[in-house]
Amino acid sequence: MNGRKILLIVGGGIAAYKACELVRLIRKAGLSVRCVLTAGGQQFVTPMTLAALSEQPVHTSLWDLKDEAEMGHIQLSRQADLVVIVPATADLLARMAAGIADDLATTLLLATDKPVLAAPAMNVRMWGHAATQRNVAQLRADGVTVLEPDEGAMACGEYGPGRLPDPEIILAAIQRALGAAGPLAGRHILVTAGPTHEPIDPVRYIANRSSGKQGFAIAGALAALGARVTLIAGPVTLPTPAGVNRVDVETAREMAAAVDAALPADAAVMVAAVADWHVAAAGQKIKKQADGAPPSLAFTENPDILATLGHSARRPGLLIGFAAETQDVIAHATAKRTRKGADWIVANDVSGDVMGGANNSVHIVSADGVESWPDLPKDVVATRLADRIAAALAG
Ligand code: CTP
Repeated sequence: MNGRKILLIVGGGIAAYKACELVRLIRKAGLSVRCVLTAGGQQFVTPMTLAALSEQPVHTSLWDLKDEAEMGHIQLSRQADLVVIVPATADLLARMAAGIADDLATTLLLATDKPVLAAPAMNVRMWGHAATQRNVAQLRADGVTVLEPDEGAMACGEYGPGRLPDPEIILAAIQRALGAAGPLAGRHILVTAGPTHEPIDPVRYIANRSSGKQGFAIAGALAALGARVTLIAGPVTLPTPAGVNRVDVETAREMAAAVDAALPADAAVMVAAVADWHVAAAGQKIKKQADGAPPSLAFTENPDILATLGHSARRPGLLIGFAAETQDVIAHATAKRTRKGADWIVANDVSGDVMGGANNSVHIVSADGVESWPDLPKDVVATRLADRIAAALAG
């Protein structure tokens, strides 16, 4: 990675201040960075700030003759190994998608022959607007990597997707885009996530409250470390993390088959909240009985995907299960580890609002004992777990 060059375009949004932190992280990772500030970006951060942090000249104008003499805009766009846009505003994405080149940033983007990575940040309605979504789809079709914005409270007071991903997450995406030999490069890791739906009849199903957020974050964090990740997802509406191969399934039996089909793997992280039972689904919608008699459902046990894998000849070298518990968390997790043949059980107390929430408190139960990580955002749990997996596979 050392010496690779990033051209960072800083757009005009309040999240521009986070670009300053990103410059610091990029340099800490051994990369060099040269910044271009749009006119809007200059309303939020100064060229002086970015010049000091990057220790490189900062470019702001297409008509800066000195720059043209010393380094033309074509050269500027091609000297870098990767062009990164942080924050990518709705306006910048729109001009990129349309191929407009009316300032230094968009001219560089049109002239570059290097991969482009955009980290959008904008108001939730602007992000959800059909025009922005159309532009993002067009840019992705053109080969631009457009990261998904984070969801949360926004500077404008609204709530939803549109926040700039954390600088650490953007750095991971940069490293991935550069084809960095991350610690998990060459490894195949399976992740299951989300709930399963078990049909009762063509219109009804049994489900659970799993949102899939923790499993998706883990899949993304593993990919960011260079792993080839197969994410087997139950029915959730989450976007696929960058660099992850996703297989959508509905039932536990479909999930078991998809896991089997994705083997072999160096590690597997079974985060899914798999339904323990299914019912023999009726072919037609179950109707109310004239006498008011309730229907009776006959339950059959589903395959235990983790336990099957844990005791199979194709068991991955590192097998990690999750345990959602509402009481005696550690004791239940310890028993599950042995029963299911897992190396680690990540136990979480779901008696609060963990399911669907942004934070998680987990205990890693392994042969070495218990390590507790209290009240962390799910993406931080994900990056820590990915680092722990990388260390375990390396050792
Ligand atoms: N799991 C699985 N297949 C199942 C059930 C669970 O692979 N049919 C996995 C989950 O993905 C998780 C771990 O097993 O990694 C523990 O899941 P959990 O629902 O907590 O365990 P159960 O076996 O359902 O135990 P219990 O109902 O006693 O809590």
